[in-house]
Amino acid sequence: MKKKILVVGGAGYVGGVIVDLLLSRKNYDVTVFDNLLYEDSYRKNCKFISGDIRDKKFYKKSLNKYDVIVWLAALVGDGACAINPGLTDEINFQTLKKLSNKYKKRIIFISTCSVYGAQNGFLDENSSVNPLSHYASSKLKCESILKNKNSIIFRLGTLFGVSDNYSRIRMDLVVNTLSAKAFFEKKMSVFGGEQFRPLLHVKDVARAIEIAIKSKKRGIYNLSYKNMKIIDIAKEIQKYFKNTKIIKTKIKFQDARNYKVRNIKASKDLSFKAKYNLKYGILELKKLLIEKRIKNFNDPRYTNQKYLEIFKETI
Ligand SMILES: NC(=O)c1ccc[n+]([C@@H]2O[C@H](COP(=O)([O-])OP(=O)(O)OC[C@H]3O[C@@H](n4cnc5c(N)ncnc54)[C@H](O)[C@@H]3O)[C@@H](O)[C@H]2O)c1
Repeated sequence: MKKKILVVGGAGYVGGVIVDLLLSRKNYDVTVFDNLLYEDSYRKNCKFISGDIRDKKFYKKSLNKYDVIVWLAALVGDGACAINPGLTDEINFQTLKKLSNKYKKRIIFISTCSVYGAQNGFLDENSSVNPLSHYASSKLKCESILKNKNSIIFRLGTLFGVSDNYSRIRMDLVVNTLSAKAFFEKKMSVFGGEQFRPLLHVKDVARAIEIAIKSKKRGIYNLSYKNMKIIDIAKEIQKYFKNTKIIKTKIKFQDARNYKVRNIKASKDLSFKAKYNLKYGILELKKLLIEKRIKNFNDPRYTNQKYLEIFKETI
């Protein structure tokens, strides 16, 4: 019998790659549920249900026919969530609360290392949290509901890289943004640059989710591959985009978060080890840019906050 997996929010950046991975195996029956906030259509050869997680019809008893729900749907990012904190609470938290009441099987929930905020030293799953945004607070509230359920919660670092051939690539993530700036403008503006970020390739998230589908472990897991200063990320990108300048700026477009995380728990309990490094991610981004998959880097569609600012009345 194939395991039935529902990927909620599966038409997004992370969803694109997890769906590809699960479809490539023979033992999963995969369905995507999404309201296509950023897309006009769903083009992947996968079962698809168009819908909104705020719709009460979603929380029917029949939801329990799925063996696992991978919960990715959310308003994502500090800026996007700040536009309308009430809406953020409704989409990111109230829905998950409803899900945890109605659905009795396994939930894989994606949280963020942003819950740690700005803190010194290395942070693990027992460290104190310090959410600095509505986004991080909404994720933390979800974590507290799922903590004692049959659930794995991944606190992801900042993602980078290309997820699949269809889905919108997010260009509001530091490695992706700086690579595009290097390609199109031959310069990368870095604010401060001394802030640390835990990084993780989007394909490694998919690998971790598959491990979580197979595992019986529960609880919170940090997931990242490396903690890097923003300035060092820019220097690494510079190596692969010739004649690109790094300009230190006072314009605060990279936010105040600063933290380093440890992943010992995921490595011990789940045998998770990141496979894709920064060079791999930069080179595939470069290929995507050369192949003109992104024609207009300034199109708001590539940036959650800019896109939602335009369409906020219609969400
Ligand atoms: N990308 C990162 O760096 C990162 C880091 C940490 C955590 N995460 C988490 O991973 C998950 C996926 O993020 P992503 O980068 O793929 O974001 P994304 O914005 O690309 O995808 C989110 C998906 O959810 C869908 N969605 C939003 N609201 C919905 C609603 N009301 N009903 C149905 N579907 C809805 C969107 O259409 C979209 O397809 C999120 O929960 C996010 O918080 C991402």
